[in-house]
Amino acid sequence: MEIKIVKTDHPAQKPDAATLGFGKIFTDHMFVMEYSHEQGWHDARIVPFGNISLHPASTVLHYGSEIFEGLKAYRRADGKVQLFRPMENIRRMNNSAERLCLPQINEEDGMQILDTFVSLEQDWVPAAEGTSLYLRPFLFGNDETLGVHAVHNAVFMLIASPVGSYYKEGINPVKIMIEDEDVRAVRGGTGYAKCGGNYAASNRAGQRAEEKGYSQVLWLDGVERKYIEEVGAMNVMFKIDGEIVTPKLTGSILPGITRKSCIEVLKEEGYTVHERLLSLEELEKALRDGKLEEAWGCGTAAVVSPIGELRYRDEVFTINNGEIGEVTQHLYDTLTGVQWGKIADTRGWIHPIG
Ligand code: PLP
Ligand code: COI
Repeated sequence: MEIKIVKTDHPAQKPDAATLGFGKIFTDHMFVMEYSHEQGWHDARIVPFGNISLHPASTVLHYGSEIFEGLKAYRRADGKVQLFRPMENIRRMNNSAERLCLPQINEEDGMQILDTFVSLEQDWVPAAEGTSLYLRPFLFGNDETLGVHAVHNAVFMLIASPVGSYYKEGINPVKIMIEDEDVRAVRGGTGYAKCGGNYAASNRAGQRAEEKGYSQVLWLDGVERKYIEEVGAMNVMFKIDGEIVTPKLTGSILPGITRKSCIEVLKEEGYTVHERLLSLEELEKALRDGKLEEAWGCGTAAVVSPIGELRYRDEVFTINNGEIGEVTQHLYDTLTGVQWGKIADTRGWIHPIG
């Protein structure tokens, strides 16, 4: 694939690592290409970062035909830049595209786009502890008509944002509220796809939790509101009576790459990991019997995020005295160790740039 590059005349000053939040600052360039039924993907280019112009009837603005991905570029101590399991993101984006009737991208082209873009922007990958360059590929339907149907035109873009450590002071346990009214996704719906609409639908519950002093919600399944699904925009795992339990991928759960990596590390190390249905009733019983030893969310942005408190209606349960547990800490150390190149990559997870 040929990628045209138009460099900016006004490169921005790189931000101070201390001022990095999440997704507030963007790099100098962005990748764009268009799709039409007739031409397929075309006009692949990297151009100066800036606003885009859309027809007011563009599909994405009316019917939410949008999918995205999230992965990071990490700077190693020796200065080199690397990605973590990027092919997993490309494949998941294509699965999301299939669900939303959006065009897919050839896997090799996807890798070439990531390689070319990150290589051009590599000075933007911060070096301070816990920082990285968050990459946000996204793809949207762009027919200029109000008819409801699978699109004939689409746009794929890639932008990047230098980000800090997800938490202000290391990895602090968070307080989570169990949500039994709104649901994030239903089986047969779009839960397994990373589409913008899933996030729009989850904001009301997230906002209600925040108003009560909680960071996020624990989602239950959309049919019976009986089984645990995810935590906020992360997958969730529990250590119950010495064994690891995580909800199985039923179709309404996003197949997280961090989730998959945690399972692989834990199994390699001899832990018993169950991917199965986990009911709220079983979780409550484990909490009451003192058998819920650890709980954590996992996702690219935070890597792992320990859950220190769970609230269900008016009842509050503390987990592991509100402290990070041993397995949670170990997973954090192992995954971040490989991502920043402090631990040897024995699993073929690392994709070097350049
Ligand atoms: N679940 C949801 C709903 C997400 O948005 C994410 C974030 O990407 C995850 C889980 C975790 O996925 P990953 O580990 O691939 O980042
Ligand atoms: C994650 O990386 O864990 C996320 O959920 C990303 C979020 C900003 C959508």
